[in-house]
Amino acid sequence: MARLKVGVLVSGRGSNLQSLIDACAKPGFAAEIVLVISNKADAYALERAKRAAIPTEIFSHKAFASREDFDRVLDAALRKAAVELVCLAGFMRILTPWFVERWRDRLINIHPSLLPAHKGLDTHARAIAAGDAVAGCTVHYVRAEMDTGPIILQARVPIMPGDDADKLASRVLVEEHRIYPEALGLIAQGRVAIAGDKAIIRDAR
Ligand code: GRF
Repeated sequence: MARLKVGVLVSGRGSNLQSLIDACAKPGFAAEIVLVISNKADAYALERAKRAAIPTEIFSHKAFASREDFDRVLDAALRKAAVELVCLAGFMRILTPWFVERWRDRLINIHPSLLPAHKGLDTHARAIAAGDAVAGCTVHYVRAEMDTGPIILQARVPIMPGDDADKLASRVLVEEHRIYPEALGLIAQGRVAIAGDKAIIRDAR
């Protein structure tokens, strides 16, 4: 059976990209990564892609006059590679509504909090400062408003006494690396439907 063609957008170290690469390397996994795009030439994620023999593109957002010009180049590269699903994996640019609409229901993100709590940056420090008992991560379809959209999977991580943002981040990251590939696998198997603002998983295990 043809595997779902995935493009991954990155800006940094790429540990989530690595978890997707590792999942796609497993026999029978229903998706394959056909392109990795970075807006940073020095992103370590690019090394990970090259090691896995995945084609890469670098587009510096600074080279474009507007966000939409940048997004049009991303879109063209993804289409040229016949990408069917885009995964954001530590991609530190806000995408335009134009791009988000063009890829509606074919664009997913991993965010390091239990959305809708703690949208945006510094999620772990804010969870600790708020006195939350539980932190976590969310894989969701992307909508134009940042860190919103139908939630596919979440994982909860308890906040321990003595946690700082780094300690908590490293425990949450373990869960990110588990649920992002799981969500991708579910989508690739055609098991995720979107109904309004909800994602529904069929035949949940
Ligand atoms: C992760 O914490 C992810 O949830 C957030 O950005 C970070 C990226 O880390 N969106 P990495 O580049 O995947 O290692």
